[in-house]
Amino acid sequence: MSQASGVDAHPTAPRPDPSVAHNARVWNYWLGGKDNFESDRAVGDRIRSMFPVIGEVARADRRFLARVVRHLAGDLGVRQFLDIGTGLPTADNTHQLAQAVDPRSRVVYVDNDPMVLVHARALLTSSPEGATDYLDADVHRPEEILAGAARTLDLDQPVAVMMLGILNFVQDTEVAVAIVRRLLDVMPSGSYLALTHPTVELGGEANVAAMAFWNAHASPPIRARTGAEIGRFFTGLELVEPGLVSCARWRPDDADEAMVPQYGGLARKP
Ligand SMILES: C[S@@+](CC[C@H](N)C(=O)[O-])C[C@H]1O[C@@H](n2cnc3c(N)ncnc32)[C@H](O)[C@@H]1O
Repeated sequence: MSQASGVDAHPTAPRPDPSVAHNARVWNYWLGGKDNFESDRAVGDRIRSMFPVIGEVARADRRFLARVVRHLAGDLGVRQFLDIGTGLPTADNTHQLAQAVDPRSRVVYVDNDPMVLVHARALLTSSPEGATDYLDADVHRPEEILAGAARTLDLDQPVAVMMLGILNFVQDTEVAVAIVRRLLDVMPSGSYLALTHPTVELGGEANVAAMAFWNAHASPPIRARTGAEIGRFFTGLELVEPGLVSCARWRPDDADEAMVPQYGGLARKP
């Protein structure tokens, strides 16, 4: 079964605004994609001139996503995924990675960008045995996300909550911690939280000026966090080895993969 309830529910959804750079499209540009406008490329190039490693950050983040989903599905037996802050469809989307391990895997994607909504059907190509759904929803509204996810996922069975590059758009750390707690509180024992988050640690000092430029010229506003702040999202959970590290150094396929200033981690709900 493949559902598109979140997509069909928004026949009058806002159109993408090509005049202001938006995160999902600029991220797509840094990843080498074509789903972006001139405004996105201009801001993306300017950020890259200030913070040259940004393209590698984006690619390392996607490689982390692939490794973490394969580990969850292949080694840890997880069959349900709630991917919040999905981004535009790209090469290895969560449902493709998970359903390559087990076609019965069920995936719910969540994003609030109108351009992602336009392309959401590309995320809904489930195997016949499994299911995918797309919710047009804001991470600041976990109750809506949980209600929508429950249409496709069995919340009595373990779920991997994927929050890659999304909590950096929740400005207040207390609010961000509360969102993660609310989502994980509902999930049963054996569920997981996977996340990535930008930082000015790990050699990311140039991110200070780059994020200030972003916040003056693009949307939505972003922020970095320290490893200690990001560690709070895992309170009450058991971090999987190697813990909270540069996402490039989390169980890398290539031992020489260079560190990037983006934390990544995976933890289990006991
Ligand atoms: C940096 S991209 C990360 C995409 C993907 N998770 C990855 O790691 O490649 C962040 C995504 O979060 C989405 N996003 C930003 N603010 C959001 C919000 N308040 N609610 C839901 N999604 C949001 C953006 O539209 C974008 O697609």
